[in-house]
Amino acid sequence: MSVKLAVFASGTGSNFDAIVAAVRDGRIDGEVVLLVSDKPGSKAVEKARDYGIDVFAFSPYDYPSKRDYELEIVRELRERGCRFIALAGYMRLLGKTILGAFEGRIVNIHPSLLPAFPGLDAIGQAMSAGVGETGVTVHFVDAGMDTGPVIAQVPVTIEAEDTRADVQRKIQQVEHALYPKTIQTILTKLMKEVPAYE
Ligand code: GRF
Repeated sequence: MSVKLAVFASGTGSNFDAIVAAVRDGRIDGEVVLLVSDKPGSKAVEKARDYGIDVFAFSPYDYPSKRDYELEIVRELRERGCRFIALAGYMRLLGKTILGAFEGRIVNIHPSLLPAFPGLDAIGQAMSAGVGETGVTVHFVDAGMDTGPVIAQVPVTIEAEDTRADVQRKIQQVEHALYPKTIQTILTKLMKEVPAYE
């Protein structure tokens, strides 16, 4: 059974591309019903429009409160029968409204081996720390900054001669394979745990 899912993205959307590609070739048994972004001018929004995927792209500052903003998003998600959310470069903490409505059904991808280097510029943080290894984490989302339970992790080596661009390229390569695969694993589990899943 195909699950309706939404992707939240504010950046270039390369992970969004990877998810859409996996849906299209059947590696994810799902349908991307909405792209949510807090950056209406972002590349991810442009890509969603090109794909013909519905877009909700508004700044939270257009709303009286974070709760109002999130209520509107939840309404848009429910209207489309959305059951699962994948954050892919969404640079904003989710509040109680979305977390409560989609408990246990929101995942994120982060470019480090969490709990190391949470938050902004994880690649820069790893390089400044001089570590020889970083990686990619997919985790469930809670109210904290990159703090939810880890689902999958893949290490990435940082060689002494690697530039930031090199590390970024290696990380992205891992992300684009790991995220669709992990999403499919979770969706399959969700289906089994909730037999009445529509
Ligand atoms: C990725 O590195 C992801 O791990 C992080 O934000 C970045 C998004 O990149 N959460 P893109 O927009 O998918 O290219």
